[in-house]
Amino acid sequence: MEISFIGAGNLAWHLAPALENAGHHINEVYSRQLQHARRLVSNLYDARTHSDLNFADSPSELFVLAVPDDALEGVCSRLVLPENARLVHTSGSCPLSELTRWMTVYSDVPVQTGVFYALQTFTKEQAFMSFDSIPLCIEAAEKSLEEELVTIGQEMSNIVYLITSHERKVLHIAAVFASNFTNHLLAIAHDLTTSNGLEFDLLRPLIQETLRKSLAVANPTDVQTGPARRNDLSIVETHLSMLATQPQLAEIYAVMTTSIQRMYDRQLK
Ligand SMILES: NC(=O)c1ccc[n+]([C@@H]2O[C@H](COP(=O)([O-])OP(=O)(O)OC[C@H]3O[C@@H](n4cnc5c(N)ncnc54)[C@H](OP(=O)(O)O)[C@@H]3O)[C@@H](O)[C@H]2O)c1
Repeated sequence: MEISFIGAGNLAWHLAPALENAGHHINEVYSRQLQHARRLVSNLYDARTHSDLNFADSPSELFVLAVPDDALEGVCSRLVLPENARLVHTSGSCPLSELTRWMTVYSDVPVQTGVFYALQTFTKEQAFMSFDSIPLCIEAAEKSLEEELVTIGQEMSNIVYLITSHERKVLHIAAVFASNFTNHLLAIAHDLTTSNGLEFDLLRPLIQETLRKSLAVANPTDVQTGPARRNDLSIVETHLSMLATQPQLAEIYAVMTTSIQRMYDRQLK
């Protein structure tokens, strides 16, 4: 299929080459700062940069919105697409109905709308990721586009699901807890160790074993350890008093401790 990208950030960096590897052709890449589009295009077969949002003369059939969620409506309001275009967004949280409504309001030609959400964390300038085992969540307003997107998805990944906008939002919230918050907690652990003259490396074996165990069991609840799990309240108090000079960290520590305690209280009931 002939494809154009709107956005040349973290997701586009990995998704565009993966689509090419699956046999599709990327025609054009748009970004506000053209050097970002140029950088992505340099990794593609023969794509060109596109300096504005007027794609009226584009040979593409599928247009992929790879811009931040807050920019979606603004981009849609300025987007000019050719006849018979299909437009997908790649967001975990934006409902399909929003994209459909924007295109009804802003586009002069009818546009088929869908969602192509890859449940993974992507960072540009990193080695290209294989999509083989990345879950792809598909949704489309029309059955024909749904079938096309499922076919494209199955060419790239072994895990392709039809997921409603509500289900995708739930997955996205779960992903924020599992990935973004976990990484943030590791960043806090990094600051705590290094600001006290200790090497973060000392924690690496613990982090590796924690993640290995969590992924090895059906429910991570079964392998929780630590003072909150043991209800070791004197240790919790000591830690909180040591964090008194860093109230933000103390707050996170207290919220996490209460959350763990409540989860195991519920199990006992
Ligand atoms: N990153 C991930 O791990 C991930 C995973 C799954 C899904 N997604 C989804 O993928 C989409 C893109 O995320 P991302 O992480 O790739 O974002 P990103 O790295 O911030 O890239 C955003 C791209 O959109 C362009 N852009 C930003 N604001 C714009 C605006 N107001 N008007 C026009 N263009 C604008 C940027 O242009 P410039 O290059 O000129 O700055 C850039 O090319 C989001 O919907 C996100 O939810 C991301």
